[in-house]
Amino acid sequence: MSAEIKVKRQSSRKRSRDRRISHLTPARKRTSASGRQCPDNTGQIELSRALDKSMDAKFSEYCSDPEDLFGDYDSIVSDSSFLAKLDRVGQNMRPHDIDHTTSSRCPVILLAGNPDFTSLKSSTDNCPKQSCDDSMTESFLEGFTDDAFLDMPSSQLAFLQDPQTADRNCCTDEDKTSMPMRHPEKSVSTEERNERHIAPKARKSVSDHLKRAMMANAATPSSVSRTAVQKEAVVTEEISVAMQAMESVSMATTDLGPFFGLPTKVKELICNLKGIKDLYEWQKTCLNLDSVQQRRNLIYSLPTSGGKTLVAEILILKEILCRKKDALFILPYVSLVQEKVRGLASFGLELDFMVEEYAGSKGRFPPVKGRGKRSLYIATIEKAHGLVNSLIETNRLDNVGLVVVDELHMLGDGSRGAIIEMTLAKVLYISKSTQIIGMSATLGNLQDIQKFLKAESYTNDFRPVELKEYVKLKDSIYEVDPKEEECFRFSRVLNFKYSSAMQKIDQDHIVALVTEVIPSQSCLVFCPTKKNCENVAGMICKYLKEDFIQHKQAEKAVLLGELRSSGNGSLCPVLKKTVPYGLAYHHSGLTSEERKLVEEAYSAGVLCLLTCTSTLAAGINLPARRVILRSPYVAADFLKRSQYKQMVGRAGRAGIDTHGESILILQDKDKVLVKKLVSAPMEICKSNLMHSDGKGVLSLILSVIGLNITNSLEQIRDFMSGTLLSVQEKQVCLERSLWEVTQECVELLKEKGLVTVSTEPQDGSLQVTKLGRATYKGSVDLTYCDLLYRDLSKGLESLMLNSFLHLIYLVTPYDMVSQCKPDWMVYFRQFTMLSAAEQKMCAAVGVSESFVARKAAGQNVKKNVDQVVVSRLYLALVLQSLLKETDLWSVADRFQLSRGFIQTLLSSSSVFCSCVLHFTEELEEFWPFKALLTELTRRLTYCVQAELIPLMEVAGVMERRAKQLYNAGYKTLAHLANADPNVLAKTVENLFKKQANQIVASAKMLLNEKADALQEEMDDLLMMPLDLLSL
Ligand SMILES: Nc1ncnc2c1ncn2[C@@H]1O[C@H](COP(=O)(O)OP(=O)(O)OP(=O)(O)O)[C@@H](O)[C@H]1O
Ligand SMILES: [Mg+2]
Repeated sequence: MSAEIKVKRQSSRKRSRDRRISHLTPARKRTSASGRQCPDNTGQIELSRALDKSMDAKFSEYCSDPEDLFGDYDSIVSDSSFLAKLDRVGQNMRPHDIDHTTSSRCPVILLAGNPDFTSLKSSTDNCPKQSCDDSMTESFLEGFTDDAFLDMPSSQLAFLQDPQTADRNCCTDEDKTSMPMRHPEKSVSTEERNERHIAPKARKSVSDHLKRAMMANAATPSSVSRTAVQKEAVVTEEISVAMQAMESVSMATTDLGPFFGLPTKVKELICNLKGIKDLYEWQKTCLNLDSVQQRRNLIYSLPTSGGKTLVAEILILKEILCRKKDALFILPYVSLVQEKVRGLASFGLELDFMVEEYAGSKGRFPPVKGRGKRSLYIATIEKAHGLVNSLIETNRLDNVGLVVVDELHMLGDGSRGAIIEMTLAKVLYISKSTQIIGMSATLGNLQDIQKFLKAESYTNDFRPVELKEYVKLKDSIYEVDPKEEECFRFSRVLNFKYSSAMQKIDQDHIVALVTEVIPSQSCLVFCPTKKNCENVAGMICKYLKEDFIQHKQAEKAVLLGELRSSGNGSLCPVLKKTVPYGLAYHHSGLTSEERKLVEEAYSAGVLCLLTCTSTLAAGINLPARRVILRSPYVAADFLKRSQYKQMVGRAGRAGIDTHGESILILQDKDKVLVKKLVSAPMEICKSNLMHSDGKGVLSLILSVIGLNITNSLEQIRDFMSGTLLSVQEKQVCLERSLWEVTQECVELLKEKGLVTVSTEPQDGSLQVTKLGRATYKGSVDLTYCDLLYRDLSKGLESLMLNSFLHLIYLVTPYDMVSQCKPDWMVYFRQFTMLSAAEQKMCAAVGVSESFVARKAAGQNVKKNVDQVVVSRLYLALVLQSLLKETDLWSVADRFQLSRGFIQTLLSSSSVFCSCVLHFTEELEEFWPFKALLTELTRRLTYCVQAELIPLMEVAGVMERRAKQLYNAGYKTLAHLANADPNVLAKTVENLFKKQANQIVASAKMLLNEKADALQEEMDDLLMMPLDLLSL
């Protein structure tokens, strides 16, 4: 072999050794091993070039003496030269680079006589020379339910046929771990094992197949006469096939099966776990787009309920299974993240990848390396940003092959939009090989976003169920038709017989409109305020006939029981009244557990009507036959086009309704605005980096300097040119150019002491200060970082540790303060109940008993008291009560706050606590906080009796369910992970089989994750120090 090939071979051998890292492997080697675990495309191109070159250079060498190779067919077996070279080249390849289509494509002629392959697939007929993955996918698409084997690539068929080989090949790192429970073999069938280990098996396949093919051809009693010409033809043929194989190996295409390149098992799982038997046409088209096949960035936009998620999930699986890369799925809400984690955990277990939750205070930075297993990170917007930062910091962002952003229009949503933009800008700048996919139902300015993401786009109007939009004005219903001059076309007159009393109370005829559909069909009523939701639900019940109570009576009784037990015996008086009629309200004032119970009951048809605020429109998928918009307002603001579309988009339940309908109730005064609303184009989604006086730009620049992405003004300028803000510079920056804004921000960061210029001679680069590092690492809002530093420093001087109050005070989120006004009587009463030490601490932070007493007595206080401190301490008292009692209801009652607010306070405190923890970790002077805040974060996250915490770590298991599980004997995570879902569903009251399955799958996943983290810690501990050899 040429020198070049030799070099390659050596490095690849080293690579394969590296893959089998022992505890004594020096760190230097490990670093390189991990670096190569998921090399980027550059590596692939290099490899491909090297292979091509070496093949070119050595072509004549191979052919120089055909007799050596083919003079005697038997000699092929003994002659190692060519096959050994193939073997070596095969070894030189990274396993996941191998294109499995190769094995089906290359042996078209060669394999004709090979019984291993031809028994299942005829050679030329089923495997034309064109790209196999195309043909596979197409044929599969034609008949989704057809025989899987017919369309399966021969590579996959070979795996299925040859389980022993598959087993031999599946000795991965995981098999060497001492975690017997991770893959209980007893429950894994041979077929499943084969499926799981398709990739390791595939590693050998190219050279193996070629070798076997040639041997088979050689062994075939050939009718070919052995004249020199014919021999040469055979040689040429063989070599050209071999070269084709090598070329395709180096391409990034990977195809593990017929289901859009995925194994048939994925299709089966989608059918079994999601109940989806066939893809919609648009989904098939989208998955077959060139941009998707070639992994270019893509934005796809379809109406609500169009089935966008499934496409994203298939692409994620493809990235994980075929390209062996990690994937990041960004969703806007914690509840959506939890729902996805629960739903995809079973996929992870079946297909052998990790599903990790990044929401609230959950999620590790940087993530555990996974020891050879790929990970799917499912994250909220904020957590995804933290995750990407930590991956950049550890040089691991290239491992993430795909980032999917759901509800991409949230780019235009205040500070959260700014965080999405920062995350994507960093990914775009640093990891060119990472594909970005965004989806949305409501994008008005696709072009801007496309330019920002360098993405292609796909749009389609598909809705599984037809949507008819109506408005109601006085007694008439009009169909919305933007094509008509008036926008509305008369549809019908309402002729409801209302008594005069009823007419007074229900002027908008809501009762009549809902009773046209309920109880047999479902209805959502969007209301402008939370209070209005409760009132409307109560009002409707008042006029419903007793018959409604009979409908699903037993199920409603169960629901009420569950609601009561979620409130530790307390039940919301409104729900108590409405649930028997099949109605409930749904808004942020409910606890998350109540919301979940209401949602589940609505999905199951136990409840037939929900009155809700606009938040339901963007959250969980809860369609209805009829959607009523009580008015075109959200609080005092007129509806935005995107909000309207999200709300009406909930109408029509796929698979149940033939059509869905929405009715917007409007008054004369709003007629003109509503015309605009129903016909205007979607709002433009603008960059939010300039939101709140450019806070986004400031924190983006701080973090790009801190993460060493940029360290000069010029580089920052270059980075900023890749943002959405740059695309929309003229619209958003207004008076100044982006360059001016950037320079100002850098100066401001210097003034704030967050950024400094290096003092090294000849350097002059920008660096973050310790405070700057702490700020971006803790994701602390720049507005509060100084204040937080001062508060923590002051706290250290007299930290009171005989109660939680002082620590809680220090992690009470600053941005919640303005949302609550203290009730002075309650404040005073609580204050007097504090211990002497606690009162002393309160006085030390600036709130004395006399001040609160005077306020409670209604007196004016002249003394200058910091209102923020006073209110913050009040919230800390609420949190302390919660930690002590763990009963949300009684605390809400005592402080006269809604339980929803208290829960929001609790969850934002737990998140802020973990932020403060990361902040203090970067500042030596705050060393005592580390241990203290680690425990406090845990307590605030769960806020239940300690014994329930391990169970509540499982995605979506809330307090009530944890109690049930605990009482049924499932006391630890290991109990849950090893539980039989059938038994679990039978033992635990009102737990459906599907939910039991999801709980067990999520628990298994979490247990694996924890075990991996420990294993990684052990590896690090036993790793030989880098510099040992030089000592
Ligand atoms: N091919 C399919 N066949 C049947 N049902 C499907 C199919 N694809 C998706 N669905 C179902 O359709 C429903 C809506 O899908 P999904 O939540 O992905 O919609 P979406 O496009 O993301 O809408 P939104 O914009 O409201 O989030 C889900 O219950 C999903 O399981
Ligand atoms: Mg969606």
